Amino acid sequence: MTTDYDQIAKEYQASKLQPWRTHIERYTLLRLTGQVANLKSLDLACGDGYYTRLLRRLGANPVTGVDLSQGMIDLARAQETATPLGLQYAVGDATKLQLEADHDLVFAAYLLNYARTDAELLAMCEAIARHLKPGGRFVGVNNNPDDPPSNFDTGLVYGYSKKLTGQLEEGAPITWRFHLPEGTIEVTNYHLSIPTMERAMHAAGLENVRWHQPQVSPEGRQQWGDAHWLPFLQNTPITFFEATKR
Ligand SMILES: C[S@@+](CC[C@H](N)C(=O)[O-])C[C@H]1O[C@@H](n2cnc3c(N)ncnc32)[C@H](O)[C@@H]1O
Repeated sequence: MTTDYDQIAKEYQASKLQPWRTHIERYTLLRLTGQVANLKSLDLACGDGYYTRLLRRLGANPVTGVDLSQGMIDLARAQETATPLGLQYAVGDATKLQLEADHDLVFAAYLLNYARTDAELLAMCEAIARHLKPGGRFVGVNNNPDDPPSNFDTGLVYGYSKKLTGQLEEGAPITWRFHLPEGTIEVTNYHLSIPTMERAMHAAGLENVRWHQPQVSPEGRQQWGDAHWLPFLQNTPITFFEATKR
């Protein structure tokens, strides 16, 4: 069952405040993205615009955010109204998107893990490729398909856990639970293996696919100590990647 983000938009926004989001997810993603000054950028599955705003603040311009959920885009627009950065937002399915083909950067945090089948994944990768100019970069993060189910409770110390229904096979639903002060929310994404993802990216014209391990920010190491982050780094629940448009 696909997660209805309209129902949990506010709570999902709150989940971005968990320290691992800042000190690992954000830190690693932004390092991987690198210099973005004046890069025409598209944030697919932008949610409430968390990374859309960060990319703009780092100098990317113009920046457009697209998400399937009206509730998430409402939150993004409310923040744009409160603090205008010149961002464009649209409600839409990333797979059907037809914007300009000349983006320097397509960014996607937790989009590809919403594909349930090879065909859906290919449609996502084709959409990414058709919005990039040759040589343009695709950068993102996903649920890590290589994270074994035996590790799914390791995240409790960081405020989340994962649950598998059935076997860890292609298309299997993986439910993330975020344990927040406001209560627990669940989002379900889908298991597709790393080779499946690489095949789809290559078929869509995305090459030099590289996978990256998480890194902890210096502030996170100082504040929490290295031992705190070790379980996350040993069996990482998320995986980072980059690719280039042929
Ligand atoms: C886990 S949230 C991540 C949001 C944001 N990227 C972030 O990191 O804060 C996943 C988002 O993907 C969106 N999404 C799922 N499938 C999509 C699709 N086919 N096209 C556009 N957005 C999609 C959901 O609506 C949701 O907002």
